[in-house]
Amino acid sequence: MSAYQTIRARLAVRSFKPDPVPDGVVDKILRAGRWAPSSRNSQPWHMIVVRDRRTLAELASLTPSGGFIADAPLAIAVAMDGARRAEFDAGRLIENMVLAAWDEGVGTCMVGAFDGAKVKALLGIPESMELVTVMPYGYPTEEAATKTKLRKPLAQIAHLERFGRSWEG
Ligand SMILES: Cc1cc2nc3c(=O)[nH]c(=O)nc-3n(C[C@H](O)[C@H](O)[C@H](O)COP(=O)(O)O)c2cc1C
Repeated sequence: MSAYQTIRARLAVRSFKPDPVPDGVVDKILRAGRWAPSSRNSQPWHMIVVRDRRTLAELASLTPSGGFIADAPLAIAVAMDGARRAEFDAGRLIENMVLAAWDEGVGTCMVGAFDGAKVKALLGIPESMELVTVMPYGYPTEEAATKTKLRKPLAQIAHLERFGRSWEG
């Protein structure tokens, strides 16, 4: 798949088949994250792979918007270590992981809301680090893989020369 096709096809996946994701595929997802760019190449990130079912269930109980983590075969937590602009670096890391996963037929969904202190304690992440997300990964159910993807029309968000003059004419 071309990079554009992967970007176009990717969906947030919130329901997973029970099949495990092979180590080689998880390794590729982690390596895709590692290749992400970061401010001054500081690489201020850590990725924690969680497969233990009880830990996955506990993680699910620590978010108001990610209960589906409990049903995934694995999750990856992302923590940032002293990044100056953590949101940018984390965003690049996460998108690399998401797209590499999709390319392997594996779906995920970024979960943004957590009781960060409790998640950090559960996973042994140092207090000084910032927890950005815990993302469940797994093979999408048929329904999750065929959702319609909704976006604003390009004419509403892309401008030519000046704001308000549509790119699409
Ligand atoms: C920063 C960020 C935080 C998100 N947090 C959540 C979340 O807590 N729970 C959830 O179900 N989806 C979450 N999502 C997924 C978005 O809701 C989803 O990407 C969006 O609805 C578009 O759907 P699509 O990814 O299938 O195109 C988050 C996405 C981003 C980028």
